[in-house]
Order: sequence, then structure tokens, then C-alpha cells
Amino acid sequence: MTAPILRRLSDLRALHATWRRDGARIGLVPTMGALHDGHLSLVAAAKARCDRVIVTIFVNPKQFNNAEDLAKYPRTELDDAAKLAPFGVDAIYVPDPDQIYPEGYATTVSVAGLTDVMEGEFRPGHFDGVATVVAKLFLQCGADEAFFGEKDYQQLMVVSRMARDLDIPIAVRGCATVREPSGLAMSSRNLRLSPEALGKAGQLYPVLRNLADQLIAGADYAALLPDAKARLLAAGFDAPEYLDLRCADSLQPMERLDRPARLLVAAWLDGIRLIDNIAVDPHPTETSELID
Ligand code: PAF
Repeated sequence: MTAPILRRLSDLRALHATWRRDGARIGLVPTMGALHDGHLSLVAAAKARCDRVIVTIFVNPKQFNNAEDLAKYPRTELDDAAKLAPFGVDAIYVPDPDQIYPEGYATTVSVAGLTDVMEGEFRPGHFDGVATVVAKLFLQCGADEAFFGEKDYQQLMVVSRMARDLDIPIAVRGCATVREPSGLAMSSRNLRLSPEALGKAGQLYPVLRNLADQLIAGADYAALLPDAKARLLAAGFDAPEYLDLRCADSLQPMERLDRPARLLVAAWLDGIRLIDNIAVDPHPTETSELID
């Protein structure tokens, strides 16, 4: 069944009030649309844990630091609604722009520290835009749990910190990255890769996987880095903007693998910027789909 598409906050609040009266637990999946299996896995996780699920679709201009990137961002609302239909979501909130940024809107939510590096360094202002819109969506949707992909690992850390710092009563859940058979992390940006570039893009994950395996086996990160970068160049990527080993919680740089870490990369391929990351745990146990 197709869920109602709501464009006004007042309509969302009215529906939300009826759910709360029934004592429902509400889940939220914030997206910018162009839904793929990665998003749909978040929807499935939300459906499994919550009684009612809201999916939001809003291409947030404040998080784009490049006008061309914003203009080219795919907008596929009808397709998105059709993809959501089998999941039985309860509302698709596609706010009109003035529902998020009304005339005179003047507030920015900014998370210090975590946002200084990697995406924050190469996309100035990006995380202010993300934290601001996500804070608004958390408050507008009044959900109990929100689901984000680990593909945007730094974003997951930033929105978790923001919700804790602002005492927004919501549990932020991270869900495992969904990958193509090649290992390429699913992303709406993949739609802009030519078939040839898609083939090359499949090299990113094996480079990360190989680095992670060698680190777990005890190799030194600095010694491994030149070869990993050379493999990316050979595959057709530009030199990566970053290829970092960082603490999984604080995102501080790590030289030795002495605690759970994350390898994170951003690199351009044929004019498209791809990011990915992978867990590197010195003492791997069972992997869990959800983190909190
Ligand atoms: O990951 C995204 O799609 C966006 O950054 C989000 C979380 C929906 C905020 O606009």
C-alpha cells in the first residue's frame, strides 16, 4: 500500500498525534530521495523495531557546498514512493522548502570537533547543514528512533553527538552499509557514474578490505598507505582527498590499531566524489547490524 505523502508539518503532526494516542513507537528514516537498497535496508530496520515509520525526502540545500552538485542531485519522488510501497511505511514526509526553512530562518546547528576533519575539511559547511536539517527533522517527526547508514560514518557520529548534546529524545541507530556485488557501497551518487566508471568504482572496497585485513594482521598503517593509494590511482581514481585510520568513536587519528577503528576514504572518479569506510577491529567479535 502506498503511504500518504505529506508536505506540511501540520499534517505530519496531526498524524503523529493519532499514533501517539495509540502508544505507537515511531521510527524515522531521513533521506534525500533517489532511494536505493541501502535506504530500503534502513526502512526494513525501522519497520522491525518500530510500530510506525516515517521516511523523509528532502534535498537539503544547506548541506551542499557545491551548487552544481545540488542542481544535479537526482529527484525521483514517484519512483521513491513506489520503492517504499512494499515496506508498508506509514508516512512519506516530503516537506515543502518553507516547512524546513521558513522566511527569516536564522538558526544553524553546529557540532564542533567531529566535523573539523575529513568530510568537514573538504566540504566546508556541509555538516552544519546536515546537523541543522537533521535536528529539525528529529523535532518535527517526534520519532523514538532514527536510522542512518554507516556508509556516511562521520555523519552518523555527528548526528548522534548532536542528538545527545541537545537532549533530543531519540535513539540514533547505525545500520551496516549495503554494497553492490563488486563491493561498491550503494549511494545515490552512483547513478551519475558511467558504466565504465562503475566498473572502476568497484575497486574502492577491495583496497579498503585489503588494508583492513593487513592492519588486523599487525601491519603498520603508515607503511601500507603508499601501496593503497597507488592501487586507487591505478584503478582510475584521483589521489584520495583522505584515506584515514581513525578511532571508531572519537574519529581521532590512530597510528596503531589498539582499539576499534574505522578506515575512511573519499576519492574522485570521473568527476564524481565517492566516499566509503570499513570497520577495523583489532579483536573482531560478532558483527552487529545495529549500533547505538
Ligand atoms: O544522508 C543523507 O541522505 C542526508 O545527509 C540526510 C541525513 C538525509 C540529511 O539531509
